[in-house]
Amino acid sequence: MNGLKQMLDLRNVSKTFYPGTVNEKKALNCINLHLEQGDFVTIIGSNGAGKSTLFNAIAGSFFIDNGAILLDNKNITADPDYKRAYDIGRLMQDPMKGTAPSMTIEENLALAYTRKSKKGFFALNKSDASHFREILAALDLGLENRMKTKVGHLSGGQRQAITLLMCTISSPKLLLLDEHTAALDPAAAQKILKITTDIVNENKITTMMITHDIKAALSLGNRTIMMDEGEIILDIKGDKREKLTVEELLTYYSKERKKQLTNDRMLLI
Ligand SMILES: Nc1ncnc2c1ncn2[C@@H]1O[C@H](COP(=O)(O)OP(=O)(O)O)[C@@H](O)[C@H]1O
Ligand SMILES: [Mg+2]
Repeated sequence: MNGLKQMLDLRNVSKTFYPGTVNEKKALNCINLHLEQGDFVTIIGSNGAGKSTLFNAIAGSFFIDNGAILLDNKNITADPDYKRAYDIGRLMQDPMKGTAPSMTIEENLALAYTRKSKKGFFALNKSDASHFREILAALDLGLENRMKTKVGHLSGGQRQAITLLMCTISSPKLLLLDEHTAALDPAAAQKILKITTDIVNENKITTMMITHDIKAALSLGNRTIMMDEGEIILDIKGDKREKLTVEELLTYYSKERKKQLTNDRMLLI
């Protein structure tokens, strides 16, 4: 033990869709995963491997069939999604989904900020506004001077950056990023990845990031897991991870699973 506290503990988590029918799909097959406070785990795997389903299970989009989910040593297995949302920030692929387009940047941030503190929406004070300005400035996108701009007028990358701030402004215990740069152009995607690592490192947020960018998966964060057919088939960190190349990873996969890693958006270089 290194003294770090455990933040997420998945114990024998299983989920089967359409059980007992011809469409039966074992999407999560007895997943065991333990994350320490501050772990930044990247997640890779083929289409349909169960990556998003894993996030859905953690966030409470459905209840799992078997097993237990503990967040910060609290058993949340039976908690509904809205309750878990106080502690779990989640970012999806679609930059249009995380923000309210007809509200301004400032209002969006205020909404996220007050949601957790349960302050009234209009109880924002000057120091809150200057806090928003500060975190916007840190994005280095010039948005701190556009706080009254409606979010609907921003680019996909800018909106994803705002969503990222909204997800992290109240220091969640866990941040789930589901291919959150996949819908962006390469330059915007790089920028959002940089912003992501800055925010995560600065706030030491325990983070899981699904990505189709294998190189990013091996270079960002401190740990990488690979999923296939509802199972975790590789879990590496430290030296072993540092030395691993994209090619070695793909070779490992094809040897282990007797098939090629396929993902329609996979970036290998
Ligand atoms: N809500 C659902 N209902 C039925 N099947 C689902 C549902 N969510 C996911 N699945 C199935 O579970 C498998 C894993 O899906 P998913 O977790 O989305 O894969 P990934 O994110 O790794 O590409 C797929 O076969 C998918 O069709
Ligand atoms: Mg997915």
